Amino acid sequence: MANISWTVDSNEALVLSLVRAQEDKQVLGKNESFEGFHPTFTYPIYGEDEKLYGYQDLVIDFRFASGSLAQFLSVRYAEKLPASSTVDDVEGIFSPFIPPGYETEEEAFLARVENDASSFQPIGKCIHSYTRPAPSSSSEESNVEYEVYHATFEDSGFREYHRRMQIFILLYIEAGSYINEEEDGWDFVVLFEKRKRKDGTATYHFVGYSSLYNFYCFPEKVRLRLSQFVILPPYQRQGHGSELYTAIYNFVLSQAGVSELTVEDPAEAFEDLRDRNDLRMLLANEQLMNEGFGTQSATASHGGGRVQKARSRLRAVPQSASGSTKSRGKMGPPVDRAWSEKWRKDLKIAGRQFHRLVEILIMLHLD
Ligand code: ACO
Repeated sequence: MANISWTVDSNEALVLSLVRAQEDKQVLGKNESFEGFHPTFTYPIYGEDEKLYGYQDLVIDFRFASGSLAQFLSVRYAEKLPASSTVDDVEGIFSPFIPPGYETEEEAFLARVENDASSFQPIGKCIHSYTRPAPSSSSEESNVEYEVYHATFEDSGFREYHRRMQIFILLYIEAGSYINEEEDGWDFVVLFEKRKRKDGTATYHFVGYSSLYNFYCFPEKVRLRLSQFVILPPYQRQGHGSELYTAIYNFVLSQAGVSELTVEDPAEAFEDLRDRNDLRMLLANEQLMNEGFGTQSATASHGGGRVQKARSRLRAVPQSASGSTKSRGKMGPPVDRAWSEKWRKDLKIAGRQFHRLVEILIMLHLD
């Protein structure tokens, strides 16, 4: 007894699942799994050391209906120490972070999943869609569609939907916290997988989302600040983050009243994603490249490896030391500041980011 540890890692104990209706499971490919993944962080909930005391084989089974995000929470364990002030109240600590009314009976939850799957529709307006080849599956599908929806708290039912999805911010973004939903000025973009059942009807499954805050920007425009951005683990590293980011960027371009897109305190993985997508967009802009370098050579080849190399060199080289050869274009060095500022405004990219991107482009060009 003395050697048994009664302390468990809360990131290990918490198990998340995105549960699909039976009919939706039938069209999944063999390797498609959306159940049984772990959070990256639980410290906002269970405390800095992410440990729980008083249990053996503790499982915090936290499930969502894959589209509506209706929740189920069940705490199970092999053994528990007699209740005392040191034994953690696992559910009691967790429940204030999710909306009340979550399911605790498995049967009721599974019935809810079946019901929600056929009735759930994304809230808001579809602003972007794309497809990916379907994993080998038993259905007739050759492609899977994905759709990005723009919504605000004004959209009926979205406030409640947001209350169910915001837990992912605490579980996956370092130093992430809940936004103040009483505040005006929030925009959201939510990404869904759209899957066709054998009978041809479509069902929607949550993939990830981003929240954006509107800042007033003198005299009559707003600056949109990307505040939170998450793609759930079963969907990561498949290009979905890039699609969601591109949808946001194109949304900003399409809004006459929005002057630029900024990002709040980006994590390194997100900076990578942002740089790659911004660079791809700039390199594909022929006019910019022609004016910038007086030649199209910079656009000729821009494999990911070269971009990566240029980015790491940018980190290593002091700004003033970058670029010493002459160029015939506006991108220099030295960069024509007025020209660069005009492009930055047209492309609605924040100042610091645009200057970084120009430095990377110069390095790519010098290579
Ligand atoms: N580490 C480093 N770079 C990464 C990572 C990672 N874990 N994930 C993606 N990237 C970069 C890479 O450059 C990648 O290109 P590559 O696949 O050619 O190497 C590029 O992003 C694009 O990858 P995607 O597949 O489009 O990105 P994904 O869909 O995986 O989304 C994201 C990336 C958003 C960081 C996702 O992993 C995630 O949600 N993580 C947890 C939450 C998080 O950190 N969010 C960002 C917080 S910052 C903020 O909210 C402002």
